[in-house]
Amino acid sequence: MNQPLCLRTVVDLRAQVAGWRQQGLRVALVPTMGALHDGHLSLVRLARQQADRIIVSIFVNPTQFAPHEDFGSYPRTFDQDMALLAQEQVECVYAPLATEIYPAGFDLSIILGGPATAGLEDRFRPTFFHGVATVVAKLLSQSAPDIALFGEKDFQQLAVIRKLVRDLDLPVNVIGGPTIRETDGLALSSRNVYLSSQERHTAAQIHACLQEARTALLQGEDAHKACEEAKSQLQKAGFDIDYLEYRDAVTLGPAGSGACRLLVAAKLGTTRLIDNIGIEG
Ligand code: PAF
Repeated sequence: MNQPLCLRTVVDLRAQVAGWRQQGLRVALVPTMGALHDGHLSLVRLARQQADRIIVSIFVNPTQFAPHEDFGSYPRTFDQDMALLAQEQVECVYAPLATEIYPAGFDLSIILGGPATAGLEDRFRPTFFHGVATVVAKLLSQSAPDIALFGEKDFQQLAVIRKLVRDLDLPVNVIGGPTIRETDGLALSSRNVYLSSQERHTAAQIHACLQEARTALLQGEDAHKACEEAKSQLQKAGFDIDYLEYRDAVTLGPAGSGACRLLVAAKLGTTRLIDNIGIEG
């Protein structure tokens, strides 16, 4: 099995992509922070259906972590990631040196509106989307892919990236991949490793409660009531809820008559979990 080519500099990445372009090949980028799981691999498989060459970027982006967050301890499993990507026959891993993303004197700061200020993740992680938008803008500009794939699990992040790409006229098609779940419904996340076995068991309640709320909403239940019921069930199970909100699926503003989404963030012990579910309009 061939290991993916591993590139560490923008110069090398651009030369590689230019070569592919000369051959008329379509290029996909799957941005990640490593600690790869089936959720990431499902994006790689989706990319494979729509592109000839796949770049997976692996970069634990310091600017999207607040000082009290887990940048230092975020799982780093590079060798295992490379082996998984070799199995998927990924052509290229871009694991940039930090200085390729944030060279000395780097001064850019992106001010975001729209879905980045919807009052969901941004209320609890006020600098998170600035870090994400900065690194994603850099990765897209460095790799110039035809398509870029992100998971729907981080639904607000996906909305922010779609808006970033539209507002900057970046010539890339952003594709959202469905959330991949454990058999009991827990959404795959690199941070699930932080859960104790008891917490891991309880964590499945998040998806179950979202599904119940979804059924109630589709049966015409008042949105406020459905959200309050879901919150109280989660609280009873031991979650500390940051938010559980019913929103428009594109703007993440107040829900209207179009497609909507229920989004939740809640802590179980010290681990913060997020999830969401679609509600057809
Ligand atoms: O979702 C992630 O893993 C990260 O936020 C991303 C999009 C790779 C940016 O660092």
